Order: sequence, then C-alpha cells, then structure tokens
Amino acid sequence: MNSLVAQMQAVLEDAREALAGLSSLEELEACRVRFLGRRGEVTLLLKDMGRVDPSERREVGRAANEVKAAVQEAFAAALARLERGRSLASGLDVTLPGRLRRAGRTHPVTRVMDDAVAIFRRMGFVVADGPDQETVYHNFDALNTPEDHPSRDPQDTFYLADGRCLRTQTSPVQVRVMESRQPPVRIVCPGRCYRRDTPDATHSMNFHQIEGLYVDRRVSLADLKGCLEEFARELLGPQVQVRFRPHFFPFTEPSIEYDFSCILCAGRGCGVCKRSGWLEISGAGMVDPAVFEAVGYDPEIWTGYAFGMGIERIAMIRHAIGDIRLLYENDMRFLAQF
Ligand code: DAH
Repeated sequence: MNSLVAQMQAVLEDAREALAGLSSLEELEACRVRFLGRRGEVTLLLKDMGRVDPSERREVGRAANEVKAAVQEAFAAALARLERGRSLASGLDVTLPGRLRRAGRTHPVTRVMDDAVAIFRRMGFVVADGPDQETVYHNFDALNTPEDHPSRDPQDTFYLADGRCLRTQTSPVQVRVMESRQPPVRIVCPGRCYRRDTPDATHSMNFHQIEGLYVDRRVSLADLKGCLEEFARELLGPQVQVRFRPHFFPFTEPSIEYDFSCILCAGRGCGVCKRSGWLEISGAGMVDPAVFEAVGYDPEIWTGYAFGMGIERIAMIRHAIGDIRLLYENDMRFLAQF
C-alpha cells in the first residue's frame, strides 16, 4: 500500500480515538485544530499529495478524500453527541419521542357528589363542612342517639384513642351548623363516613354521604317529599318516582326511608332492583325536637326536615355497578369506562 494512504489511515484511527474521549465542546475544537486545522495532521498529509508518483495519484487521491470525509463524519458525530449531552444536562432532551398525555376522568363517586351538590345548590342549599374525626357528642348524643343504641357499639364505630370517633354519618354536620347559626338554615354536607363493616359487594368501611337539612317556620313532610322528588328527577331523569316508607331514626320524628323507582327497568322489576321496581336510597324525616333542644333552637317555633344519602349507592345505580369494591380498587380498566 502506498505509505501516504497508510499514514492517513493511521491519522483517521487517531482522530476516532481522540474524539471518543471528548467531554466538552472546547476539547472538540482543540481536536479539530489538531486534525483539520490549517496545519492539522489531515491537512498536512493532503498537502503531501503533490509528491505522489503521477501513476498512483488518482488512486491515492481517492483514498485520501475518503479518509478526510471519514474524519469529518467522526467530528460531526462527536458534535452531535456533545450537544445532546448538553441539552440533557439542562434538563431537556430534544431527541426524546413525544409524550401522549392521557386525560384523567372524574371518578364516578366524585361525579355523583358534584352533581348532587350542584342540584341542591340550585334549590337554594349551601354547602357546609365538618370534621371526619368527630366527637361522640356530635355524632351520637346531640342526634338523640341513646348510649345503648347499637350503632354506638365499638363493633360498628371506629373510636379514637382520645375518645372521639370517625364519623359514621354526615348527620353531625347538621348539629355543628345549627350550633353556629340561627335559623332559617338550608344546608347540604357532602363527605366521607366510616363504619366497622366487613367489606362485601354492598359494604365498605369508608364511603360517602350527602346530608341535607332545612330549618324554617312551618316546614312539612310534603316539603321534604317535594325536595327529594325534584332531586331524583334532576339526577336520574324526569321519569323517576320517589316512595316513602315509615322507618325509625333517633334524630327524626317521623322518620322515613325513601326509594327511587328503578331507572334500569323503569320500575318493571330487574336484577338490580331485585324484581321490586324500587331502589332503596336512604333515610330522612322531620328533625326531632330533642335535636333542636340540643342545639338551642326553640322546637315550638322551628321545624325542619333532614335527609341523608349514600353516594356510592347512587353511583352504583346510575352505572349498574354490582360491587361497591370496584369503586375503590383503582383498576384503570374499570375506571376508564366512565
Ligand atoms: N344518617 C343516616 C344514616 O347514615 C341517614 C339519615 C337518616 C340522615 C335520616 C338524615 C335523616 O338526615 O334525617 O343512615
């Protein structure tokens, strides 16, 4: 082989080695001067072309140009590598592929809660709030619930070391609101509740309720019924009917349980409503005078209704969900459906 071509190939090897070890653009510039500068190693070798025997000049010339191109290519690659490193160091890697941003969705429980709050606000209710860690007084005593009531049993209620409990219902917020302001009162309180239930398809230790309370002069059971009917139609559609059944709660007298007609079978009877045509929603009633006395309202002047509802229950009805636990497992295959 022509010795000039051999020398050029050796320089190419040297250049590749030097470029591989570079870590800054300054070093790259020094390297460029060393190989490709006016007095650089490659440049000088190319100048020697004049001394090559004319019979070999063509072939050597081609080989020399190839080597020069290879050195330039190695420089371009080194520059790209260093620039990429620089943008990485500044936190931006412009060579990364684009990222598809997956839009989140509102959880079905949150949606029912938001919808319920919006409907009650349109009816003139304002939102009130209370603590999840509640005093036994607010959760039970002030709600006229006697010491020996089964719901107070430690088997059913989580008691805290300091004597408070995790609220088993949103009803204690009624008490807090009435303690802090004078009637008329028209509030709803959405929130989490806790009970020592064994989880199954319809029970969870942690669930949500929305509580309603309306106190004024001459409030009647008919007002309660009108409110719940209007709510049911707004939430689930104009064909929904509401039914009251007599019941007992310590904090209301009279007390009722109320059902919505089944929206899945239009009341004809199906698996979700257990062939009855009706879906149990929750409890309600006229505020018991004992509750008014506990908060300092005169029961001779003031009357009121109260109601509670389970939000998970309504979400399950709305979407025909058969197991409450699905709402808390965070399985994307389930949640992405809503
Ligand atoms: N707190 C009751 C429960 O968790 C539901 C309830 C019933 C709320 C009657 C009320 C009411 O405000 O008046 O089962």
